[in-house]
Amino acid sequence: MPRLEEITPENLSTAVDIRVSPEQEPFVAPVMASLAEAYASRHTAWPRLVYDGDRAVAFIMGNFDPDNEVDAFRCGIWRLNVAAHEQRKGYGRFAVHALCEEAQRRGHRRVTVLWEQGEGGPEAFYLRLGFKPTGEVLYGEVVGELPL
Ligand SMILES: CC(C)(COP(=O)(O)OP(=O)(O)OC[C@H]1O[C@@H](n2cnc3c(N)ncnc32)[C@H](O)[C@@H]1OP(=O)(O)O)[C@@H](O)C(=O)NCCC(=O)NCCS
Repeated sequence: MPRLEEITPENLSTAVDIRVSPEQEPFVAPVMASLAEAYASRHTAWPRLVYDGDRAVAFIMGNFDPDNEVDAFRCGIWRLNVAAHEQRKGYGRFAVHALCEEAQRRGHRRVTVLWEQGEGGPEAFYLRLGFKPTGEVLYGEVVGELPL
């Protein structure tokens, strides 16, 4: 059973070593950039590593910012990177569900995500998990939502 771990000085280099496949790189920022954004984001970011046993298999970062003026940024998935050789094993689904549980604990009623369309992109994954496009497009990306 996978589990979440907070980012610590001990696992930081493990986190930044998580890489998606080269053709997926246009669809998600590297973990290093996400952690820098988390540091700069006024404590709204929620970055976590997904472990299976002693293997770090994925990185997910939520954003919980209930007062954000943009509805789509109040409670959502900011980043999700499953290591290239660990994909299609259920870790992406686990990470999204874990983030949804955290959102529920915080009293949110829906989770949003922005994705870029294109071959090799994550659209089919999010649709499979039940996200539905809201009809909005932000920064050229589709806004999807999942009621909790
Ligand atoms: C998209 C991504 C997060 C999926 O993670 P994953 O661990 O491979 O997904 P899972 O194994 O949990 O798959 C869950 C379901 O989605 C489906 N799925 C996953 N990727 C898919 C794809 N590219 N196309 C179609 N279906 C896909 C799986 O088949 C599975 O369906 P099932 O319930 O029928 O078995 C991963 O491919 C990734 O990190 N991509 C690169 C970065 C990226 O695009 N991140 C999102 C930024 S918004």
